[in-house]
Amino acid sequence: MAAEVIDGKQISADIRAEVAEETKKLIAGKGVTPGLAVVLVGEDPASQVYVNNKEKACQEIGFNSFKHVLPADTSEDDLMKLVDELNGRDDVHGILVQLPLPDHINEERVLLNIDPDKDVDGFHPMSVGKLVVGAETFVACTPAGVIELLKRSGAELEGANAVVVGRSNIVGKPAALLLLSENCTVTVCHSRTKDLGAVTRAADVLVVAVGVPEMIKGDMVKEGATVIDVGIHRTDDGLVGDVAYEEAAAKARAITPVPGGVGPMTIAMLMRNTLEAARRKAS
Ligand code: GUN
Repeated sequence: MAAEVIDGKQISADIRAEVAEETKKLIAGKGVTPGLAVVLVGEDPASQVYVNNKEKACQEIGFNSFKHVLPADTSEDDLMKLVDELNGRDDVHGILVQLPLPDHINEERVLLNIDPDKDVDGFHPMSVGKLVVGAETFVACTPAGVIELLKRSGAELEGANAVVVGRSNIVGKPAALLLLSENCTVTVCHSRTKDLGAVTRAADVLVVAVGVPEMIKGDMVKEGATVIDVGIHRTDDGLVGDVAYEEAAAKARAITPVPGGVGPMTIAMLMRNTLEAARRKAS
């Protein structure tokens, strides 16, 4: 049977519509309009696209959006001062500093300076620590989107064998913690994992965020698995993910396409986190 194609674009649109609805209620009930500040340092073209998409999503949903574009030679101290200012503003509920930052700026120091109550990106060590201990917190948007796709595609998580390929701080590690909190049995694989295929073939739920084009082949996928592909790569044959799609789809119960799978979810989860930050402030 053909695999279900998990439509991230549609699911993202559904979530953004839900957030827009809740935003109207917050504005009507409490007079609070959620505000997101996005900070971009430098002119990285991919980052410019991401930041513009975030601004557009805010406008469509009815948030206030505050975009700060700083020159590439901005000093770390000046960026820290901007974060201080945004931390202090009542109309800014979420702060996102677009990564990567230029080499002369210490990313860790900047992220640490964001008020954890405004850390809608979920990158502050306080947010990460809360995720580890299972406390309520802002969860990084891409791994949060992965879980949302699994749930909305009907994947059975309770007691499932979940395998995460990739151990980045932004995706692999938080995805593993979230799957654990959904009562999966979780295995995290990485570049030193021996016989990767033997591990992935045991996965009922396979989340791949490894950054290597089409690394996961069909023979590494369990029959009936749910496969979430976080990768995206531009190749001569167009955009591909970390999973060899056709081969994997022949085995899977359900699978995300690239593009149109995980990608659109990130912004939806950012919007949801920003709404949540504004709600907490309002109550
Ligand atoms: N760069 C690429 N993805 C992200 C993200 O989700 N958040 C931030 N801050 N920077 C990014």
